[in-house]
Amino acid sequence: MEGFLGATWLWVKAAHIIFVIFWMAGMFMLPRFFIYHQQTTPGSAEDKAWIERETRLRRIILTPSMSVVWLLGLVLAVNTGAFSQGWFHAKLLLVLALSGYHGWMVGYARKLARGERRLSDKALRLANEVPGVATAAIVILAVVRPF
Ligand code: HEM
Repeated sequence: MEGFLGATWLWVKAAHIIFVIFWMAGMFMLPRFFIYHQQTTPGSAEDKAWIERETRLRRIILTPSMSVVWLLGLVLAVNTGAFSQGWFHAKLLLVLALSGYHGWMVGYARKLARGERRLSDKALRLANEVPGVATAAIVILAVVRPF
């Protein structure tokens, strides 16, 4: 299975997986940061330090990694003709949901920066399970391709 990428196909796939790992690492870290962040008093020096950490994690790791994963994933999909395959439709749905979760996290970081603390620590811990479960399902779909 080579497609238009020819000999670079496996390199592109390796890069796709590397950036998936960066993206997921950020997805696991940010809600953890939120739990520590919301224990601080709005406007305090500690609050400002967490806002800075969250902004850097988003700008340096999360958003660029997600963009590269999407770009390379779509290139791979065109290359392998995945758009006509069942596993890919299911994977795409889950990845869209994961991107939505990413967007929700960015929104929550903005709320925290404004001094709003809407969710309990427990709810944030629960939210932290989302990327883990989604990653397991996506990897099984991409590797096993059960349908
Ligand atoms: C963002 C949108 C994504 C798209 C469009 C996409 C698309 C693809 C495609 C088409 C392949 C098959 C490549 C080939 O065999 O030539 C692939 C492979 C793979 N993807 Fe994605 N992907 C995306 C995101 C993700 C995410 C979020 C994960 C993990 C959480 C992931 C994990 C993998 C893995 C592990 C493989 C290697 C499967 C194998 O060849 O055995 N992908 N991806």
